[in-house]
Amino acid sequence: MVTGAAGGFGRAIVERLKAAGATPVLWDLPAALGRLPDSDAPVYAVDVTDEANVTDAADALMSRFGRIDILINNAGIVGEPLPTWEVPVATFRSILEVNLVGAFLTCRALVPLMLRTVGNGQSGRIVNIASIQAKEGMDKAAAYSAAKAGLIALTKSLGKELAKQGILVNVITPAASMTAMSIDAPKERLADILSRIPMGRFLEPDEVAALALWLCSDECSFSTGAVFDLSGGRATY
Ligand SMILES: NC(=O)c1ccc[n+]([C@@H]2O[C@H](COP(=O)([O-])OP(=O)(O)OC[C@H]3O[C@@H](n4cnc5c(N)ncnc54)[C@H](O)[C@@H]3O)[C@@H](O)[C@H]2O)c1
Repeated sequence: MVTGAAGGFGRAIVERLKAAGATPVLWDLPAALGRLPDSDAPVYAVDVTDEANVTDAADALMSRFGRIDILINNAGIVGEPLPTWEVPVATFRSILEVNLVGAFLTCRALVPLMLRTVGNGQSGRIVNIASIQAKEGMDKAAAYSAAKAGLIALTKSLGKELAKQGILVNVITPAASMTAMSIDAPKERLADILSRIPMGRFLEPDEVAALALWLCSDECSFSTGAVFDLSGGRATY
């Protein structure tokens, strides 16, 4: 199951999952799902900040498939760039809700179901999509940086809790990519962000999908609670 599945990274991850023989289940907001091309993929309108919505969709997924092997927590919002003291309180909270609480709610609803799947001799994988901003603390993005830093910590805690139960939990910290999330950012900010990437280019969504797929594969066997950079050399730790 992929959250934010109709977005830039989400669609790339869904395509790679399909190509690898998985049956991706797409969760996203109704408006975003409406922009997807017609397909026979299982699609559910889910707001990851809504506990009842998440629980119902998790139940629907289990009734239909009887198992869940892979969870990709990818839904996210960034908010407009503002100095911390000018961010409306409701905006700060909503950014934490989507990026951090949303991932907690999906894990809370789906980990017990994944544990049942693993009990049938399968292995489970959870991949969270954070951001390089989580490690750096980007200026004018305090809520986003804090939420994604929280997501890294959530990954580490959950990774330890599940380490002996056949479920690996990892997090990717991408640098900027020209998806809907970034494309409307002020030009000077994009130029500043690009100047921080030693490779001198933006990340491609398919590069996120490639790493996510590896983290979901049997080739990834001894990493859990781990942070995987995709930063074109920007990450220094
Ligand atoms: N694009 C970048 O530069 C970049 C860099 C680092 C990390 N990320 C992270 O990667 C992830 C995917 O981002 P993207 O670049 O594909 O952006 P995007 O805007 O194309 O996709 C984000 C998706 O999340 C969905 N979403 C938002 N709120 C939701 C909610 N409450 N419930 C369910 N779905 C919700 C949106 O509808 C959208 O489809 C996000 O978590 C983002 O923070 C993006």
